[in-house]
Amino acid sequence: MGTTTAFGSMTSEEIAALSREHTFFSWSVQGAVDPIAVDHAEGVYLYTPEGKRILDFNSQLMSVNIGHGDRRVIDAITAQAMKLQYVQPAFTTEIRARLGAKLAEILPGDMDKVFFTLGGAEAIENAIKLARHASGRHKILARYRSYHGATLGAMTLTGDPRRWANEPGIVGVVRYPDTHRWGEAGPRPVAESLQGLEDVIRYEGARSIAAVFLETIVGTNGILIPPDGYIAGVREICDRHDILMVADEVMAGFGRTGRWFAVDHWDVTPDLMTMAKGLTSSYLPLGAVAMRHGIAEKFETQMFYGGLTYSSHPVSLAAALATISVYEEDGLIENAARLDPVMREHHARLAAKHPSVGATRNLGLFGIIDLVRSRDPWTPLTPFNGTSDEMKAIGKYLRDHDLYTMVPNNSIHTNPPLCITADQLAEGFDIIDGALDIADQAVQG
Ligand SMILES: Cc1ncc(COP(=O)(O)O)c(C=O)c1O
Repeated sequence: MGTTTAFGSMTSEEIAALSREHTFFSWSVQGAVDPIAVDHAEGVYLYTPEGKRILDFNSQLMSVNIGHGDRRVIDAITAQAMKLQYVQPAFTTEIRARLGAKLAEILPGDMDKVFFTLGGAEAIENAIKLARHASGRHKILARYRSYHGATLGAMTLTGDPRRWANEPGIVGVVRYPDTHRWGEAGPRPVAESLQGLEDVIRYEGARSIAAVFLETIVGTNGILIPPDGYIAGVREICDRHDILMVADEVMAGFGRTGRWFAVDHWDVTPDLMTMAKGLTSSYLPLGAVAMRHGIAEKFETQMFYGGLTYSSHPVSLAAALATISVYEEDGLIENAARLDPVMREHHARLAAKHPSVGATRNLGLFGIIDLVRSRDPWTPLTPFNGTSDEMKAIGKYLRDHDLYTMVPNNSIHTNPPLCITADQLAEGFDIIDGALDIADQAVQG
């Protein structure tokens, strides 16, 4: 069965069973996985082998920003693959020259050079290296409510519980306080968060700290949007102590928030910036670390001790350049900005109707709904790092109603592709509306 029959002849059940038998799934107890088999995808919709249509309300892993199946990117990939598939990274190619120049055009401030990796975690690993080599210092500051990837260094920087089973990690990583505490409705005052960072720098010794890492907007840990003044405040503290600021925009970058990069909302230029996901909209694997001119200049005379067989892979770079053209040609970043208030209205309507909606947040099409048993006192629908029968039932309801999104902890993510229309957005929120009746039954009092 399966491996010997013609392609396209397997059912969803057969694909899932054979995949489970011979392939490993991420972040899972293998015996509990229940994958959805997908045959093809177009725009905001996925299609199963039986032709069932599923609305992708999370752009897969907040990454298929331009939407699925765009011919322009597929053609660019095909053309590059027909011409030149691969040269090792010490060679160079026209696609590398053109993509580097294009990125320099859209990157914030004086960032004008990139090192290409295979994905987000490798971008973080190389940002750690660049920061350490450029500064000659070793300590890295990172936050608890963060995810930076599953390789060893990135996992050590990651503050969330996915780190626990992977410890011990690399040495020299120190935590500083978050903008949002778990179990509280809103952010802490900016001055308090920034003072927390100042305290850690004082106690650790500024001259031993290479860099402060942060997700500009925290992604999987809850779409935590920093209050105005925070990102600029971190920049000012880093400048004052001569510490590098590294923005992780693997998830928040490439139009998700209605600007090219989330730092653009606050007019801040970090020293290093990591990206992946929306860079190719996941059509092919690619990540990058961008650096400011001054950092790049140091490496004109200083050796960079890093490299990857697939750095600057021509076919992935072709996917990236074509993806960037799609953002521009179709005005997708403008669409995300235009739909920002529309998503906010949907969130507000659901909050007004459902007592289980404790808080909602979005910037552009980067959004989330937090569910509670009680708004006052604030009681999340799950314990920290846990789940609940209600959240499991919500996940099942969404799947049964053909909407895909992530429902970690007590939250429902709302991160559709940036090509979504207002009608398709309403279609997704109507399904979520139905699911929230389940959560309402858990509301106390
Ligand atoms: C903010 C952030 N950084 C880094 C990563 C790691 O990226 P990858 O899974 O491509 O290694 C992720 C992945 O979700 C992410 O959200």
